Amino acid sequence: AEINLQEVHDLLVSIAHEAGKMIMSATPSYLSAGEKKNCSPPPSKHCTNQYANHLPTAADLVTETDQAVEAMVSSRLQTSYPQFSFIGEETFKPGVTKLTDAPTFIVDPIDGTTNFVHAFPAFCISLGFVVKKVPSVGVIYNPFLGELYTAIKGQGAYLSRNGAPKEKLPLKQNPEPLKDLSTCLVGAEWGSDRTGSNFALKCAVFAKLAASKEDGGAMVHSLRAMGSAALNIAAVAAGQQDVFWEGGCWAWDVAAGWCLLSEAGGIMAGGNPGDWDPAIDGRKYLAVRAAPEGQKAIVEEMWAVIGDGR
Ligand code: IPD
Repeated sequence: AEINLQEVHDLLVSIAHEAGKMIMSATPSYLSAGEKKNCSPPPSKHCTNQYANHLPTAADLVTETDQAVEAMVSSRLQTSYPQFSFIGEETFKPGVTKLTDAPTFIVDPIDGTTNFVHAFPAFCISLGFVVKKVPSVGVIYNPFLGELYTAIKGQGAYLSRNGAPKEKLPLKQNPEPLKDLSTCLVGAEWGSDRTGSNFALKCAVFAKLAASKEDGGAMVHSLRAMGSAALNIAAVAAGQQDVFWEGGCWAWDVAAGWCLLSEAGGIMAGGNPGDWDPAIDGRKYLAVRAAPEGQKAIVEEMWAVIGDGR
């Protein structure tokens, strides 16, 4: 039977508000936050997630609130849609959890956990719904700022602030063309993997983006690292950031934002359906905002800068 995406959307919005209350009433502490969500705890000191490709680090935090919110979300979804699949950051099992063509909820209970524990106001709940791996509903809610981003495939993307009437994305109704990277505000994240060649690659990309033309760089307007992949993608959908790049995102970081972005006329390059399964190591995402022209050129320019970092 045809899935009623509006009903799915309405449920996700209601869940997002409930999650927001849980998140805002929590008192997280970075002293008690646990580490490394996608790795198993000892006995093995090393990450047992063959796809994560890095060791447990103190930069990948998880709190009791992340886990409690995910439990609430999965139980509400299970009650309303027991026939649909569910992938959540906190219950993802490396090598076991698979993204299939089945209708699937993809959930990050708190995206931007590091911000959450430090009370930096850029964290959100990210609720995606994908059908045949195509992002079909996206709901992202920042409870601190009361910002609710929503999208349904084919029906546009919207932002509502503190319950005010929703505004269509991108917020600028006539987005300017994208000239070249030197005129872009670029979101790029440090991520939680700070080891070895991966880290060196990331730093090299940041340096190339920021450096002056004389020094062989792209000299972008500036770099931002907001600390939440979902909010980064939402900002690109809104037209507040021109580009977002991160190697190493997981499906739950991007599923909801991807729907917003496509509906707002933006594009997600390098992560086409089939290449974004959490069980494949193809986790490279480049989001570019809506633009009457220049979108493709920016993708090419970014790939040239990123090189092997893709
Ligand atoms: C993280 C954030 C961060 C990004 C990491 C994500 P989490 O999500 O989105 O900005 O750099 O790659 O894992 O762990 O806070 O849900």
